[in-house]
Amino acid sequence: MSKSAFQELLANTRRLTILTGAGVSAESGIPTFRGAGGLWRTYQATELASPQTWNANPGLLWEFYNYRRQIMLDKKPNPAHHAIAKIEKRFREENRQFHLITQNIDDLHLEAGSQNVTRMHGSLWLLRCCLCSQIVENRNVPITPSFEGSGSPDPKAKQSNFQKEDLPKCSCGGILRPHVVWFGESLAIEDMEKSHEVSRECDLFLVVGTSAVVYPAAGLSVIAQRSGAKVAVVNLEPTTTDQVSDFNFQGKAGEILPDLLMVE
Ligand code: OAD
Repeated sequence: MSKSAFQELLANTRRLTILTGAGVSAESGIPTFRGAGGLWRTYQATELASPQTWNANPGLLWEFYNYRRQIMLDKKPNPAHHAIAKIEKRFREENRQFHLITQNIDDLHLEAGSQNVTRMHGSLWLLRCCLCSQIVENRNVPITPSFEGSGSPDPKAKQSNFQKEDLPKCSCGGILRPHVVWFGESLAIEDMEKSHEVSRECDLFLVVGTSAVVYPAAGLSVIAQRSGAKVAVVNLEPTTTDQVSDFNFQGKAGEILPDLLMVE
Protein backbone atom coordinates (compact mmCIF):
# COMPACT_ATOMS: atom_id res chain seq x y z
CA MET A 1 0.00 0.00 0.00
CA SER A 2 1.06 3.56 -0.60
CA LYS A 3 2.80 6.19 1.51
CA SER A 4 -0.35 8.31 1.67
CA ALA A 5 -2.40 5.32 2.91
CA PHE A 6 0.22 4.75 5.60
CA GLN A 7 0.20 8.40 6.59
CA GLU A 8 -3.59 8.43 6.84
CA LEU A 9 -3.42 5.36 9.06
CA LEU A 10 -0.70 6.95 11.21
CA ALA A 11 -2.80 10.09 11.65
CA ASN A 12 -5.63 7.93 13.05
CA THR A 13 -3.48 5.60 15.13
CA ARG A 14 -4.06 5.64 18.89
CA ARG A 15 -1.27 3.19 19.77
CA LEU A 16 1.95 3.03 17.76
CA THR A 17 4.73 0.52 18.42
CA ILE A 18 8.05 0.65 16.58
CA LEU A 19 10.60 -2.18 16.53
CA THR A 20 14.14 -1.35 15.41
CA GLY A 21 17.30 -3.29 14.61
CA ALA A 22 20.87 -2.58 13.57
CA GLY A 23 19.77 -1.06 10.22
CA VAL A 24 18.47 2.03 12.03
CA SER A 25 22.01 2.80 13.22
CA ALA A 26 23.76 1.89 9.95
CA GLU A 27 23.68 5.48 8.71
CA SER A 28 25.41 6.55 11.93
CA GLY A 29 28.33 4.39 10.81
CA ILE A 30 27.74 1.45 13.14
CA PRO A 31 28.22 -1.98 11.56
CA THR A 32 25.12 -4.19 11.30
CA PHE A 33 25.37 -7.92 12.00
CA ARG A 34 24.47 -9.80 8.83
CA GLY A 35 24.90 -7.48 5.84
CA ALA A 36 28.11 -6.57 3.99
CA GLY A 37 30.65 -5.47 6.60
CA GLY A 38 28.41 -6.96 9.32
CA LEU A 39 30.00 -8.04 12.59
CA TRP A 40 28.80 -11.62 12.22
CA ARG A 41 30.60 -11.86 8.88
CA THR A 42 33.86 -11.54 10.76
CA TYR A 43 33.04 -13.15 14.09
CA GLN A 44 31.26 -16.40 14.87
CA ALA A 45 28.23 -14.96 16.66
CA THR A 46 27.04 -17.97 18.55
CA GLU A 47 30.59 -18.83 19.62
CA LEU A 48 31.79 -15.36 20.57
CA ALA A 49 28.75 -13.68 22.12
CA SER A 50 27.93 -16.54 24.43
CA PRO A 51 28.09 -17.49 28.10
CA GLN A 52 30.44 -20.34 27.13
CA THR A 53 33.05 -17.88 25.82
CA TRP A 54 32.56 -15.72 28.90
CA ASN A 55 33.16 -18.65 31.24
CA ALA A 56 36.18 -19.91 29.33
CA ASN A 57 37.71 -16.64 28.22
CA PRO A 58 36.17 -13.42 29.58
CA GLY A 59 39.14 -11.36 28.34
CA LEU A 60 38.30 -12.23 24.71
CA LEU A 61 34.70 -11.15 25.12
CA TRP A 62 35.76 -7.92 26.83
CA GLU A 63 38.08 -7.24 23.89
CA PHE A 64 35.06 -7.50 21.59
CA TYR A 65 32.83 -5.22 23.69
CA ASN A 66 35.64 -2.77 24.37
CA TYR A 67 36.04 -2.56 20.58
CA ARG A 68 32.31 -1.97 20.09
CA ARG A 69 32.32 0.77 22.75
CA GLN A 70 35.34 2.33 21.04
CA ILE A 71 33.48 2.36 17.69
CA MET A 72 30.66 4.33 19.38
CA LEU A 73 32.86 7.19 20.58
CA ASP A 74 32.34 9.47 17.55
CA LYS A 75 28.89 8.16 16.52
CA LYS A 76 25.75 10.26 16.66
CA PRO A 77 22.05 9.58 16.13
CA ASN A 78 21.00 9.93 12.48
CA PRO A 79 17.74 11.25 10.95
CA ALA A 80 16.04 7.88 11.53
CA HIS A 81 16.64 8.05 15.31
CA HIS A 82 15.51 11.68 15.34
CA ALA A 83 12.35 10.93 13.35
CA ILE A 84 11.41 8.17 15.82
CA ALA A 85 12.01 10.48 18.79
CA LYS A 86 9.90 13.21 17.16
CA ILE A 87 6.93 10.95 16.41
CA GLU A 88 7.01 9.80 20.05
CA LYS A 89 6.94 13.43 21.19
CA ARG A 90 3.97 14.13 18.92
CA PHE A 91 2.10 11.09 20.24
CA ARG A 92 2.80 12.16 23.83
CA GLU A 93 1.57 15.71 23.18
CA GLU A 94 -1.59 14.35 21.58
CA ASN A 95 -2.20 11.85 24.38
CA ARG A 96 -1.70 8.89 22.10
CA GLN A 97 0.33 5.84 23.14
CA PHE A 98 3.79 5.12 21.80
CA HIS A 99 6.38 2.46 22.54
CA LEU A 100 9.75 1.74 21.00
CA ILE A 101 11.29 -1.73 21.19
CA THR A 102 14.91 -1.87 20.08
CA GLN A 103 17.30 -4.76 19.64
CA ASN A 104 20.19 -2.29 19.51
CA ILE A 105 22.55 -1.87 22.42
CA ASP A 106 24.08 1.41 21.19
CA ASP A 107 21.59 3.68 23.05
CA LEU A 108 21.40 6.11 20.09
CA HIS A 109 17.60 6.18 20.41
CA LEU A 110 17.96 7.53 23.96
CA GLU A 111 20.52 10.05 22.77
CA ALA A 112 18.04 11.25 20.13
CA GLY A 113 15.40 11.79 22.84
CA SER A 114 13.29 8.62 22.75
CA GLN A 115 11.79 7.98 26.19
CA ASN A 116 9.42 5.04 26.12
CA VAL A 117 11.98 2.44 25.12
CA THR A 118 12.48 -1.26 25.79
CA ARG A 119 16.08 -2.29 25.13
CA MET A 120 15.48 -5.98 24.49
CA HIS A 121 19.16 -6.88 24.20
CA GLY A 122 20.52 -4.59 26.91
CA SER A 123 22.99 -1.72 26.60
CA LEU A 124 26.66 -1.37 25.73
CA TRP A 125 26.93 1.21 28.50
CA LEU A 126 25.55 -0.92 31.34
CA LEU A 127 27.62 -3.50 33.17
CA ARG A 128 26.38 -6.25 35.48
CA CYS A 129 28.28 -7.85 38.34
CA CYS A 130 28.69 -11.60 37.99
CA LEU A 131 28.72 -11.94 41.78
CA CYS A 132 26.09 -9.56 43.22
CA SER A 133 24.12 -8.84 39.97
CA GLN A 134 24.27 -5.08 40.52
CA ILE A 135 23.86 -3.11 37.28
CA VAL A 136 25.99 0.01 36.85
CA GLU A 137 26.35 2.58 34.10
CA ASN A 138 29.91 2.78 32.82
CA ARG A 139 31.14 4.92 29.90
CA ASN A 140 34.87 4.20 30.20
CA VAL A 141 36.68 3.63 26.92
CA PRO A 142 38.94 1.75 27.24
CA ILE A 143 36.96 -0.27 29.72
CA THR A 144 40.07 -0.53 31.96
CA PRO A 145 43.53 0.96 31.37
CA SER A 146 44.79 -2.51 30.31
CA PHE A 147 42.64 -2.30 27.16
CA GLU A 148 44.23 0.96 25.95
CA GLY A 149 44.88 0.64 22.21
CA SER A 150 43.64 -2.96 22.02
CA GLY A 151 41.61 -2.47 18.78
CA SER A 152 39.46 -5.21 17.27
CA PRO A 153 40.03 -8.76 18.49
CA ASP A 154 41.49 -11.38 16.16
CA PRO A 155 38.45 -13.39 14.99
CA LYS A 156 40.51 -16.60 14.96
CA ALA A 157 41.87 -16.11 18.48
CA LYS A 158 40.85 -18.73 20.97
CA GLN A 159 42.71 -17.05 23.79
CA SER A 160 43.02 -13.44 24.82
CA ASN A 161 45.98 -11.46 26.07
CA PHE A 162 43.75 -10.17 28.85
CA GLN A 163 43.53 -11.91 32.20
CA LYS A 164 41.01 -11.62 35.03
CA GLU A 165 43.02 -8.83 36.69
CA ASP A 166 42.59 -6.69 33.54
CA LEU A 167 38.78 -6.82 33.64
CA PRO A 168 36.41 -4.26 35.23
CA LYS A 169 35.41 -5.03 38.83
CA CYS A 170 32.35 -4.29 40.94
CA SER A 171 32.68 -2.64 44.35
CA CYS A 172 31.92 -6.10 45.83
CA GLY A 173 34.99 -7.51 44.06
CA GLY A 174 33.07 -9.49 41.41
CA ILE A 175 33.89 -9.21 37.72
CA LEU A 176 31.63 -6.95 35.67
CA ARG A 177 30.25 -8.21 32.36
CA PRO A 178 28.41 -6.27 29.64
CA HIS A 179 24.70 -6.05 30.52
CA VAL A 180 23.66 -7.46 27.15
CA VAL A 181 21.90 -10.63 26.06
CA TRP A 182 24.17 -13.28 24.57
CA PHE A 183 23.22 -16.25 22.41
CA GLY A 184 21.68 -18.94 24.58
CA GLU A 185 20.60 -16.44 27.28
CA SER A 186 17.05 -15.40 28.09
CA LEU A 187 15.75 -11.88 27.82
CA ALA A 188 14.78 -10.09 31.04
CA ILE A 189 11.24 -11.17 31.84
CA GLU A 190 9.97 -7.59 32.20
CA ASP A 191 11.35 -6.69 28.74
CA MET A 192 9.72 -9.77 27.25
CA GLU A 193 6.37 -8.98 28.85
CA LYS A 194 6.46 -5.32 27.82
CA SER A 195 7.42 -6.16 24.23
CA HIS A 196 4.57 -8.66 23.96
CA GLU A 197 2.09 -6.24 25.52
CA VAL A 198 2.89 -3.30 23.23
CA SER A 199 2.94 -5.58 20.16
CA ARG A 200 -0.43 -7.10 21.10
CA GLU A 201 -2.11 -3.83 21.96
CA CYS A 202 -0.98 -1.47 19.20
CA ASP A 203 -2.96 -0.43 16.10
CA LEU A 204 0.15 0.09 13.99
CA PHE A 205 3.41 -1.86 14.27
CA LEU A 206 6.34 -0.37 12.37
CA VAL A 207 9.48 -2.48 11.88
CA VAL A 208 12.69 -0.65 10.93
CA GLY A 209 16.10 -1.99 9.92
CA THR A 210 16.04 -5.54 11.17
CA SER A 211 16.62 -8.78 9.29
CA ALA A 212 14.06 -10.29 11.70
CA VAL A 213 15.84 -13.59 12.10
CA VAL A 214 16.60 -13.43 15.83
CA TYR A 215 13.79 -14.46 18.19
CA PRO A 216 11.91 -13.39 20.19
CA ALA A 217 12.07 -9.97 18.43
CA ALA A 218 11.39 -11.61 15.07
CA GLY A 219 8.06 -12.98 16.32
CA LEU A 220 6.65 -9.66 17.52
CA SER A 221 5.30 -8.55 14.13
CA VAL A 222 3.29 -11.78 13.93
CA ILE A 223 1.86 -11.14 17.40
CA ALA A 224 0.92 -7.61 16.32
CA GLN A 225 -0.66 -8.73 13.06
CA ARG A 226 -2.65 -11.56 14.72
CA SER A 227 -3.89 -9.08 17.30
CA GLY A 228 -5.30 -6.88 14.56
CA ALA A 229 -2.58 -4.28 14.02
CA LYS A 230 -1.43 -3.11 10.64
CA VAL A 231 2.25 -3.90 10.08
CA ALA A 232 4.66 -1.70 8.13
CA VAL A 233 8.32 -2.31 7.24
CA VAL A 234 11.13 0.11 6.42
CA ASN A 235 14.23 -1.82 5.36
CA LEU A 236 17.00 -1.77 2.80
CA GLU A 237 16.05 -5.19 1.50
CA PRO A 238 13.18 -7.69 1.75
CA THR A 239 12.90 -9.59 5.07
CA THR A 240 10.67 -12.30 6.49
CA THR A 241 8.49 -9.61 8.11
CA ASP A 242 7.20 -8.85 4.61
CA GLN A 243 5.05 -11.99 4.92
CA VAL A 244 2.84 -10.25 7.50
CA SER A 245 3.23 -6.62 6.47
CA ASP A 246 0.60 -4.35 4.93
CA PHE A 247 3.12 -1.67 3.93
CA ASN A 248 6.69 -1.98 2.63
CA PHE A 249 9.07 0.90 2.16
CA GLN A 250 12.41 -0.19 0.77
CA GLY A 251 15.44 2.06 1.27
CA LYS A 252 17.48 3.77 3.95
CA ALA A 253 15.66 4.45 7.19
CA GLY A 254 17.31 7.87 7.59
CA GLU A 255 16.00 8.94 4.21
CA ILE A 256 12.53 7.38 4.43
CA LEU A 257 11.39 7.92 8.04
CA PRO A 258 11.38 11.74 8.43
CA ASP A 259 9.09 12.08 5.42
CA LEU A 260 7.03 8.94 6.06
CA LEU A 261 6.33 9.90 9.69
CA MET A 262 5.73 13.54 8.71
CA VAL A 263 8.23 14.92 11.23
CA GLU A 264 10.62 16.77 8.90
P1 OAD B 1 20.94 -7.45 11.06
O1 OAD B 1 22.33 -7.05 10.72
O2 OAD B 1 20.63 -8.90 11.10
O3 OAD B 1 19.92 -6.78 10.05
C1 OAD B 1 19.97 -5.42 9.73
C2 OAD B 1 18.92 -5.13 8.67
O4 OAD B 1 18.93 -3.73 8.43
C3 OAD B 1 19.16 -5.83 7.33
O5 OAD B 1 17.95 -6.40 6.85
C4 OAD B 1 19.61 -4.67 6.41
O6 OAD B 1 19.16 -4.83 5.07
C5 OAD B 1 18.90 -3.50 7.04
N1 OAD B 1 19.57 -2.20 6.83
C6 OAD B 1 20.89 -1.92 6.71
N2 OAD B 1 21.10 -0.61 6.56
C7 OAD B 1 19.87 -0.02 6.59
C8 OAD B 1 19.41 1.32 6.49
N3 OAD B 1 20.24 2.34 6.36
N4 OAD B 1 18.07 1.53 6.56
C9 OAD B 1 17.19 0.51 6.70
N5 OAD B 1 17.59 -0.77 6.80
C10 OAD B 1 18.90 -1.03 6.75
O7 OAD B 1 20.60 -6.74 12.47
P2 OAD B 1 19.39 -7.06 13.48
O8 OAD B 1 18.19 -7.54 12.74
O9 OAD B 1 19.25 -5.89 14.35
O10 OAD B 1 21.57 -9.73 18.85
O11 OAD B 1 19.99 -8.25 14.31
C11 OAD B 1 19.23 -8.76 15.39
C12 OAD B 1 20.13 -9.26 16.48
O12 OAD B 1 21.08 -10.17 15.94
C13 OAD B 1 21.00 -8.21 17.13
O13 OAD B 1 20.33 -7.47 18.13
C14 OAD B 1 22.09 -9.02 17.72
C15 OAD B 1 22.37 -9.93 16.57
O14 OAD B 1 22.90 -11.16 16.87
C16 OAD B 1 22.35 -10.04 19.89
O15 OAD B 1 23.54 -9.76 19.94
C17 OAD B 1 21.62 -10.75 20.97
